[in-house]
Amino acid sequence: MNAASRTKLNQTPEWTALAKHREELGAPQLRELFARQPERGTAYTLRVGDLHLDYSKHLVTDETLRLLRELAAATGVAELRDAMFRGEKINTTEDRAVLHTALRAPRDAVVEVDGENVVPAVHAVLDKMASFADQVRSGQWTGHTGKPVKNIVNIGIGGSDLGPAMAYEVLRSFTDRDLTLRFVSNVDGADLHEAVRDLDPAETLFVIASKTFTTIETITNATSARDWLLTELKAGQDAVAKHFVALSTNAEKVEEFGIDTANMFEFWDWVGGRYSYDSAIGLSLMVAIGPDRFREMLDGFHLVDEHFRTAPAEENAPLLLGLLGVWYGNFFDAQSHAVLPYSHYLSKFTAYLQQLDMESNGKSVDREGDRVDWQTGPVVWGTPGTNGQHAYYQLIHQGTKLIPADFIGFAAPVHDLLPGLIAQHDLLMANFFAQTQALAFGKTPEEVRAEGVPEELVPHKTFRGNHPTTTILADKLTPSVLGQLVALYEHKVFVQGAIWNIDSFDQWGVELGKVLAKKIEPLLTGDGGADAGQLDSSTAALVDAYRTLRGR
Ligand code: F6P
Repeated sequence: MNAASRTKLNQTPEWTALAKHREELGAPQLRELFARQPERGTAYTLRVGDLHLDYSKHLVTDETLRLLRELAAATGVAELRDAMFRGEKINTTEDRAVLHTALRAPRDAVVEVDGENVVPAVHAVLDKMASFADQVRSGQWTGHTGKPVKNIVNIGIGGSDLGPAMAYEVLRSFTDRDLTLRFVSNVDGADLHEAVRDLDPAETLFVIASKTFTTIETITNATSARDWLLTELKAGQDAVAKHFVALSTNAEKVEEFGIDTANMFEFWDWVGGRYSYDSAIGLSLMVAIGPDRFREMLDGFHLVDEHFRTAPAEENAPLLLGLLGVWYGNFFDAQSHAVLPYSHYLSKFTAYLQQLDMESNGKSVDREGDRVDWQTGPVVWGTPGTNGQHAYYQLIHQGTKLIPADFIGFAAPVHDLLPGLIAQHDLLMANFFAQTQALAFGKTPEEVRAEGVPEELVPHKTFRGNHPTTTILADKLTPSVLGQLVALYEHKVFVQGAIWNIDSFDQWGVELGKVLAKKIEPLLTGDGGADAGQLDSSTAALVDAYRTLRGR
């Protein structure tokens, strides 16, 4: 659908029908919905690859789902999806194609950007990465002093950090345990300091990950890392080639930094930062898990890409998840969405999704530049269970807010050190199932009274229930399953952006702070002629206080 000719979302008949349906539903009760439809627990499920998805504990009926699918049809989700897969420039504000799906396309696929098939280049880079990863893993790649690499420090931020850092954590049990892999992102020097302080520079490789190779945090950290390495090794500039590689789209800047472009792994402007860890940005992950496991992960991504592209609307999992988010955000005023993995290996997964979702859909103008008057992306948050149960679950269960949540769990653990630890898995998963049950069905005052609870405590011990959750269950957290999960969320975010008619692929909102920081820095250091008089009184006073504390 041509965005310019499209009716405002909240003026479409499909939106109005949903609003009316929402009114008629009133306060839907999950107990009632299950009583009316006893087979709901098996009927409201989907299977995508290895993922079993249960959406029965949602405040929806068949009619809700039908109306939501009609909204998706009316807003052209499928057309935009097809345009994305075809390589059309759907990122209109940056005039770019959006083709992370090409990063996991099989070797013989054809995906064209400006008339050129990009798949051979994708596989050429993957092959180059694999050959490099094998050299490092086998000890063939040696540093300046001839020692093999034992430590890899990935320096990047945002999409050039969160993806590989998350995936490394997730796939730890598949990694070469003789290699140490660390991630440095923050311009706070403490990050780099703690990452390198106990490393032997002769055995350390820095992977500088930056799509643009201009990001101030990354270039600053990379420069400090280079200084540390050359000082510690008492070496000249020629040592850089053996200890630094770059992952970037910007060969000129890479060369300017002093990294041999033979040691640069390329990707392209049609890969968004937050959609990039399956590109060259995944190099340090590939070194850690090996090229075969990396390819298994890409196959997992591809499986869900194909599902999203071809599955009918009724069975399309990313479409369904996207629509459920629209239902709560736009028709229940839910402000946030929790992602609660019951796997410690997924401890960085929600932080990764924060960038994917919030940088993509945290927008308030539509694709034509007009202000939207409907809610867009939610606040995404969460940490692994069971830890969260002893922190903020109280608010989800008994607070005043509606917080839809995704629960992600696995039938079998991937760690296998002690039999006792494997037995613990049942306890973990018992909590996993118990939480969605408690959230959905709560505990009525009558049930509380029946337990002999004194009347004055009844309101305190009552659980309202009706907190909607999706449960995603898979056998094991393998590389392929990780790829499937990430692609599921990528496409969910896509669906929502398409419905809200926003450009999910730009991120202008990060610019202003960067520009202001550049202006403020000379005021802190006293370098340059920046004019403190141009600051507002609050910022000026704070800058002044900082300078006094620093003795300047
Ligand atoms: O936060 C803004 C952003 O541009 C992200 O989209 C991106 O992932 C990150 O900065 C890092 O950018 P680069 O890879 O170019 O260093």
